[in-house]
Amino acid sequence: MPRIIALPKATISIQISFLMEAKLTAIGIYAPEKVVDNHYFEQIVDTNDEWIRSRTGIVTRRFAAENEFTSSLAEKAILNMAAEYKLQLHDVDFILVATVTHDQIMPSMACQLQYRLNIPNTGALDISAACGGFGYGIVLAKSLIHSGMARKILAVGAETLSKVTDFSDRTSCILFGDGAGAVLIEAAEKGNIGACVVGAEGSGGQDLYLSNLNTVINGEEIIANNKIIQNGRKVFKWAVSQMSVQFNVLLEKEGLTVDDIDWFVPHSANMRIIEAICKQVGLPIEKALESLSTYGNTSSASIPLALYEGVRAGKVKKGDKVLLLGFGGGLAYAGAIVEWA
Ligand code: UT7
Repeated sequence: MPRIIALPKATISIQISFLMEAKLTAIGIYAPEKVVDNHYFEQIVDTNDEWIRSRTGIVTRRFAAENEFTSSLAEKAILNMAAEYKLQLHDVDFILVATVTHDQIMPSMACQLQYRLNIPNTGALDISAACGGFGYGIVLAKSLIHSGMARKILAVGAETLSKVTDFSDRTSCILFGDGAGAVLIEAAEKGNIGACVVGAEGSGGQDLYLSNLNTVINGEEIIANNKIIQNGRKVFKWAVSQMSVQFNVLLEKEGLTVDDIDWFVPHSANMRIIEAICKQVGLPIEKALESLSTYGNTSSASIPLALYEGVRAGKVKKGDKVLLLGFGGGLAYAGAIVEWA
């Protein structure tokens, strides 16, 4: 029979006083130099600038050079952040990297960054949650700090999607771009990362995938070409209905109403998805920040890119309540409410 041991009150209060909160304190980005406009695709598939702009909201995207990979984009985003905020990185004790375009599956991107940044001893882990990956990074960072496992975490979303794009498929090749974003999340007595959500609907796995060893998902034969394959319409519908629900779950968990949200930073997949979610939850579209028009769909990098641009443009200010929500392949999603520091 299990024994219940009653802890003396003094012990309990000591334990609680050690609980630290998580505070997002810095952000940085990097995008490759090469800018690709919509006209580029008119030469390789049957499409046009007007269709791409009106159906997706994308105007340009960045493509990495042949010898430029996800690890270097991630490293530059971190170094840009460190330079801008005058940060020391030697005492970082955890690195989380969300990506679907690892330079190699093994070693992880996080291990490679630990080596390149010369951080002496740190936990290092890649997150495989596609476009929901940055959201998962925030949630995991908060949990690691709250549990006492870590005190200073680099959470990164970085992709070189142009290297896994099927340039013969007009429905997907016009969407993707390359980029990286990093945030620093630290232990603090008063944190700024509030309510979080995470979730997955694996039954939709075959609607958005990047093939690897197995050519079957959920019993269905898939196209095994190591490129991103997407059933755009299905993912679109799922994203609008599920993310509207999760937006409201976050509000409820935090005890807020939609009017309390200053900025909404969803994954930048399609402007029409962002508009539809805003309409469903009753948020003015002007409060949504996107990285889509400039950078295309950059999967796990899209949220930090949009947030950084919003901060630099002077839109996101200290004390603003920002609702982040990532979603995509898996299908998986994760989000959080952050009070900007
Ligand atoms: O980032 C991870 C999560 N991903 C998403 O959230 C993506 C969600 N999906 C989407 O963003 C959109 O579904 C797409 C942008 C991928 C496609 O837009 P859509 O409005 O859903 O187009 P559709 O697939 O319903 O196709 C409409 C028409 C079709 O022609 P027909 O059958 O009506 O004659 C397509 O063949 O548009 C055609 N089409 C194009 N036409 C010109 C599809 N792609 C193109 C193109 N240029 N690039």
